[in-house]
This record gives sequence, structure tokens and C-alpha cells, in this order.
Amino acid sequence: MLTPAHLIQLKRDGEELSPEQLLQFIQGVSNGQVADYQATAFLMAVYFQGMSLSETVALTDAMLASGERYDLSAVPGTKVDKHSTGGVGDKVSLILAPLAAACGLKVPMMSGRGLGHSGGTLDKLESITGFDVHLPRDRFEQVLREVGCAMIGQSKSMVPADKKLYALRDVTGTVECIPLIVASILSKKLAEGTNALVLDVKVGSGAFMKSREQARKLARTLVQVSKKMGLPARAILTDMNQPLGYAVGNAIEVLESIEILRGDKAESDRCSSDLKELTIQLCAHMLDLGGVVKNVPEGRKLAHARLQDGSAWEVFQKLVRAQGGAMEQILEPERKLPQTSSAVIWKAPKRGYLVKMDTEVMGRILVELGGGRKKASDSVDPRVGLIFHKKLGSRVASGEPMVTVNVPEKRGNGPDLELLERQFQEAIEVSSTRKPVPKLIFEVLS
Ligand code: URA
Repeated sequence: MLTPAHLIQLKRDGEELSPEQLLQFIQGVSNGQVADYQATAFLMAVYFQGMSLSETVALTDAMLASGERYDLSAVPGTKVDKHSTGGVGDKVSLILAPLAAACGLKVPMMSGRGLGHSGGTLDKLESITGFDVHLPRDRFEQVLREVGCAMIGQSKSMVPADKKLYALRDVTGTVECIPLIVASILSKKLAEGTNALVLDVKVGSGAFMKSREQARKLARTLVQVSKKMGLPARAILTDMNQPLGYAVGNAIEVLESIEILRGDKAESDRCSSDLKELTIQLCAHMLDLGGVVKNVPEGRKLAHARLQDGSAWEVFQKLVRAQGGAMEQILEPERKLPQTSSAVIWKAPKRGYLVKMDTEVMGRILVELGGGRKKASDSVDPRVGLIFHKKLGSRVASGEPMVTVNVPEKRGNGPDLELLERQFQEAIEVSSTRKPVPKLIFEVLS
């Protein structure tokens, strides 16, 4: 048996580690025999040296073996989940889980909290008072069986190695590393017991992968490792050069999701149409992968129908009830979801076309306002948020409202309005010449 230091040296020097060596190291991370500084040195070595496909598979397997793995075979039906690599305004899961369930799948969705500038499904769900994302295993199974979907966070016993490594990566500059991302995501998806997985790999200014090339590589590795681990998967590359939908912020994203589920939005409503379109498309891929339909176009038809006839909205209500959420908040979200009483409006500095938005900055503004965390122990303010009135490519008049910012009431220490103004000025570009708008969905890898 090699010592942790020796294994780190091997990886530092670009050697390929064997499955046994990776298992030994990850076991050491979980049981405390590998110190945090050694785990961090290992992560940095992987960051610089990368990993082969077989090492990435072995790392995923070792991380999966660090904790409990759910067996959902007693729950009838095909279980298919979706995972997004993270973005701004990405509330798709809130609509998609009930929609896919309404179409006949079982959706065991294990989600995360906000990370860096990107939002997290658990934080959004928790803006509904009482919504419990920590269901014990048998209750999780029961909700899945009875409602068709269940939405929870990673339990203490699930993939503890990822918990530890993730926390270290977050503070040591080792998040953006393909083998580490792949092992982190897939070990958790394999542990939750899904039968198949659709991956929404985000690309652009608000994503962790800024270029298509990087995103494609991540998507390819996710699909390859998934298949080698026996989990059928498909990756959809989607645009994150502007927030998805119109809302960014925890409670306001729940409101936007409910508007889509209730069918409030006209087809012509540009600000939410990308959100609806992406949800339908991801649902179609889930249905196709799960064998509910023969192909993706058929999946789209079914998803559209179940959204239109209110069945997805019904499933969402059942889900909230089953997980302890306050029903009055989702039945009257405009009045009862948490909200601030103050707002500021950022207006277009000149007329022209909206051509660029640094979407990561939008996510960071939300974090600054308290809607996300700067450190793991921070609590989030569900009320704050940003409402975007224009999408890329829109024509804007000088002085027209571009973004409404729901700010916390001043408690001696309100938001720095001058800083906010500067951030918007730098991050949002209005130009007299139109520029092409990136396609929302631009590639499917399977
Ligand atoms: N989401 C995860 O769960 N892990 C990563 O490494 C990145 C995104």
C-alpha cells in the first residue's frame, strides 16, 4: 500500500493511478486518514495533470463506494433524473420534475444548493415555508411512489467523499476541473438510484464552462463515464449567456416556475419562453431515454400536453404538500411567497439592442444582495431577486427599465446602489448594431 504522499506524487508527475490506488485514497479522505492538506494537494495535481477516462471512472466508483446507495427497484416505473451543471435563473427542475412525472416517469431528484454565482434548487424550494428537502430514505421512496417525483438534498450518508472534496475544491481553486466535476456529479446521481440521466450542460458567461469546446468535453466525459458505470445518459448543451427566464432569486424563481406550471404565460411572452422551451425539450429527452415515447418529437408533444392540461401543476401541488410546504404560498404565490418591499430599477443608458450580458455578474449581484452564500455557513435571503425585462436581441429605448432589483430593506446597511449601477453598466451592453443571439439548445450528445 502506498502512502497518501506517494499517491499524490504519482499524480503530480502525470502517472495514471489504478482503481485500487484511487479507492484507497478516497477511503482515506472519507475516514480521515488522508488529511485535508493532502486531499487538497491531490485535487490540485488532478487539476493540472487531468485524468484518463478509466481513472475518471475509477474515481467516480470510489466516491460512490464512500457512502450509501439507494435501491429504488421497489418503486414501480422507470426512474429518470435531470442534472444541470449550474447557471443563473435556472429553475428548470422545479417545473421539469412534476412535468416528467405527469408524463409517466418517476423522478428521484437529488439537487444541490447555490454554488458560487450559480443558484441551487434546494435554496429555491426552501423559500416555500416548511418544504423539507431532508426526507428520510423511506419517506423519499414513498413520495416518489405516490407523487411521481421527490426533490431532496444529499443526505449525510450519501457520497460523503464528495461532501469533503467539494468543500475543499470550493476554497482551493479546483472546481473547474472536468474529471473532478464528472466524478462529483455522477457519484451522487448513481447513489440516488436513478435508471437514466439527462444532463443539461450549460455554456456561456453564466456557466462554469465558458467555451463550447470545454462544455463539449465535459458533456462527452459525463456521458462516457455514465455509460461505463451502467447509467444510460444523454447530454444537452444549452446556452447560459443570459439568465434563463426573467427571474433570478429564490422565491421569485418559484413564482416564475408556478406561472409556467399554471400556464399563465402567453406563447409570445419572450422573457419566459426560453425557460418553457428548455423544460419541454429536456422533458422530451427524459421521456425518450426512459422509453415512455418512441422519439424526442413525440416526447415534446406529450410534455406540451401535460403542461397545457394542468397535470404538471397538479403534481407540483402534490409534491409541495407531501414535502411539508405551505400550500397557501404556492396557491397565491404573488402575495404569499417571501418578498421585499423595496426595489430599484436599472434603466437602459441609451437606445439600441441588448447585445451582451455578463451573466456571472448577475449571479454575483444576487449573492451580494444575500440571495446566495459567500461561505457555506451563510443563510440565504429568499426575498431578494432580479427581474429582467429584456432578452438578448431585444430592442430597447433609452431610459427603458432593463432590470428591477428587489433589494432588502435598509437596516443601516442597505445595498450599495452606486456599485450596483456600475456593475450593471459594465456587465450589460446596449449597442446600436444588432448581434446574433446564441441558440438556446445547440447540441445533443449521447
Ligand atoms: N455540481 C456538482 O455536484 N459537482 C461539481 O463538481 C460541479 C457541479
